Amino acid sequence: MENNEAIGIFDSGIGGTSIWSAIHELLPNEKTIYLADSKNAPYGQKTKEEIIVLSMKNTEFLLNMNCKLIVVACNTATTNAIQELRAKYDVPFIGIEPAIKPAVLHSKTQIIGVLATQGTLSSTLFNKTTEKYQDTKIIEQVGNGLVQLIESGQINSPEMTQLLNSYLKPMIEANIDYLVLGCSHYPYLIPQIKAILPNHIQIIDSGEAVAKQTQKLLSETIGFNSSTTSETVFYTNTDSSVLKQILGNKYKVQEKEF
Ligand code: SIN
Repeated sequence: MENNEAIGIFDSGIGGTSIWSAIHELLPNEKTIYLADSKNAPYGQKTKEEIIVLSMKNTEFLLNMNCKLIVVACNTATTNAIQELRAKYDVPFIGIEPAIKPAVLHSKTQIIGVLATQGTLSSTLFNKTTEKYQDTKIIEQVGNGLVQLIESGQINSPEMTQLLNSYLKPMIEANIDYLVLGCSHYPYLIPQIKAILPNHIQIIDSGEAVAKQTQKLLSETIGFNSSTTSETVFYTNTDSSVLKQILGNKYKVQEKEF
């Protein structure tokens, strides 16, 4: 099956590029359009209604570019708005949810930690997921401030180390053996997180699972790109320097109002 339109991907900012990267690695021949709504980041402390309005705005931008599929590369937007997006638009959507299931299945201590935004942890979708795993203790931690530091290019700052220490130490003391990263920005913190966690604690994020789901959907119902061009364009509605820094200046980045 063929479909030469692009896969559209959006996030509240630059963090969803961790999801884009997993998709691009698995499907290098696909065209992708990435939308970083950094002007409105973080979504994590906004109301459900605000998140729905922003997610619809991003979707409409990508639909105007004829995207064949939209990946909501933001946990907060997925958990708060994906049902409303699916109800309103005909295009298929893939969302990202914290990878609770694999962590629960593999945990030996039956105690896992989830680091995510307030918006994700308080969403109905997240709470419905955790209710399924009554035999596992799930320690939830809001990652206040992490997205703002990442968006402002302060990934390796002393403030970041201090915040991560304060969020992770209680989970280590509680004897977790899996840490689920429930925000698409957080994979950029894995080196710092690894420096704090003891070696036996595994870190799980959702990038690979989303990439595989994208591949499955293209193969079963949408179709792959058969043209020889597989361009990626990144759009941001703020200054593009942090996005360029994170992408290593290799890709086409455009600043645009949306
Ligand atoms: C945020 O914008 O607050 C974080 C995005 C996410 O939840 O993935």
